[in-house]
Amino acid sequence: MTAIATQPASASQDEPGELRFPAGFVWGAATAAYQIEGAANEDGRGPSIWDTFSRTPGKVYRGHTGDIACDHYHRYRDDVAIMADLGLASYRFSVAWPRIQPDGTGPVNHRGLDFYDRLVDELISHGIDPVVTLYHWDLPQTFEDRGGWTNRETAEAFADYALAVYGRLGDRVKTWTTLNEPWCSAYLGYSSGRHAPGVQDPAAAFAAVHHLNLAHGLGVAALRSAGAQTIGITLNPASVLPLDEASEADQAAVRLVDGLHNRIFLDPIVKGEYPADVLEHLERFGGTPWLRDGDTALINQPIDVLGVNFYSPTYVGVREGAPGNVEEYPGTEGIEFREPVGPVTDMGWQIEPSALTKLLTRIGRDYPGLPLLITENGAAYPDGPGPDERVTDTLRVNYLDGHLRACHDAISNGVDLRGYFVWSLLDNFEWAEGYKKRFGIVHVDYMSQRRTPKDSARWYREVIRRNGLAV
Ligand code: NOJ
Repeated sequence: MTAIATQPASASQDEPGELRFPAGFVWGAATAAYQIEGAANEDGRGPSIWDTFSRTPGKVYRGHTGDIACDHYHRYRDDVAIMADLGLASYRFSVAWPRIQPDGTGPVNHRGLDFYDRLVDELISHGIDPVVTLYHWDLPQTFEDRGGWTNRETAEAFADYALAVYGRLGDRVKTWTTLNEPWCSAYLGYSSGRHAPGVQDPAAAFAAVHHLNLAHGLGVAALRSAGAQTIGITLNPASVLPLDEASEADQAAVRLVDGLHNRIFLDPIVKGEYPADVLEHLERFGGTPWLRDGDTALINQPIDVLGVNFYSPTYVGVREGAPGNVEEYPGTEGIEFREPVGPVTDMGWQIEPSALTKLLTRIGRDYPGLPLLITENGAAYPDGPGPDERVTDTLRVNYLDGHLRACHDAISNGVDLRGYFVWSLLDNFEWAEGYKKRFGIVHVDYMSQRRTPKDSARWYREVIRRNGLAV
């Protein structure tokens, strides 16, 4: 079975009392290497920017690191058994580049590949289709020592790394994702500095955007020539909405933020060019010295699927004196980014499922012909087992239920959505928030490494079994 249905998603056939998803809709769960694996110094793994960053005082909540995390590196068999029990059709995980090339560009470390080889076999033996993300933020530190994503060399090296992983897993892995959320790698990594490597320089962030786009394009070309079947990228496209629908100024603010967040990735990848308004904005930050002739053609490789990670909407409008969000969106002075309104998750993120329907519908309209996958959606809540050992995470169930209805609405609007991966299978290392924030549908007790499926896991199993929701 392949992760992506070969037929476009069509309007579902709902039965009375049910909201059904199209036949072949892929139900999955997602994780990422640094967030769950642990075993930071085993089998020849080299250091990544997150090892360095998490050891830098004040960067991560209480100095937490991914050294042990969920110890998934040693417990993957148990974790795959949990996935099988849930009835997952697919599992999205990432490969840690520093396990494969501990020095970044050096020889391949076969012991690192062995782990993913075992994991893939274990998944397949349980009938679970692997979806591999090649880069989920754990850049080998040696690259960062030479400028990381601000250096073109990193993009070129990515294609070699992609081929090394494909060479070992390509006979069994059908679906490949180049990068996860390059917006975060570029802007949080090099502008706000809230994520590794912690640089605060807007011009560096724009160079990083371009080199991430280039890495994607070079990676797709390499995977394609090696014979990969289904290739895509996962973005976290923002659902940017105006404070006042009727205000032209607010609509212009939407366009600016949409350009910096969405079109700066989607346009070169899908259409082969950077948007003119975004290029003009970049003039304020030193222009595009990193852009070489032919780059946008390299970035513009055909892809088979677009991964969408969605959590929360962004509301913006023009308001005099507003400071903007210049750390994450350089040059947005005068724009108000509204504080969340209404219910929020433990991350403080506003809950608004209809913003997901709007986002999917917009992507389907502006980038037609591209099958979509929700590669992440979920919510953090501070839950834990009660005296009866049960984790009653009703708020998470409500969040997931609302967003699945939003997906169903998008499909009914004609959006070609092929599947949904919940973030996350397990509670795990939530980057700068450490282990404080729990996104899992399975609770992890980090002292004992005990896993306890939450009520949301049981609920999700039922959704998968029905291929839909009860109404
Ligand atoms: C996006 C990232 O891909 C993932 O690593 C993170 O844990 C979740 N969102 C939640 O913030």
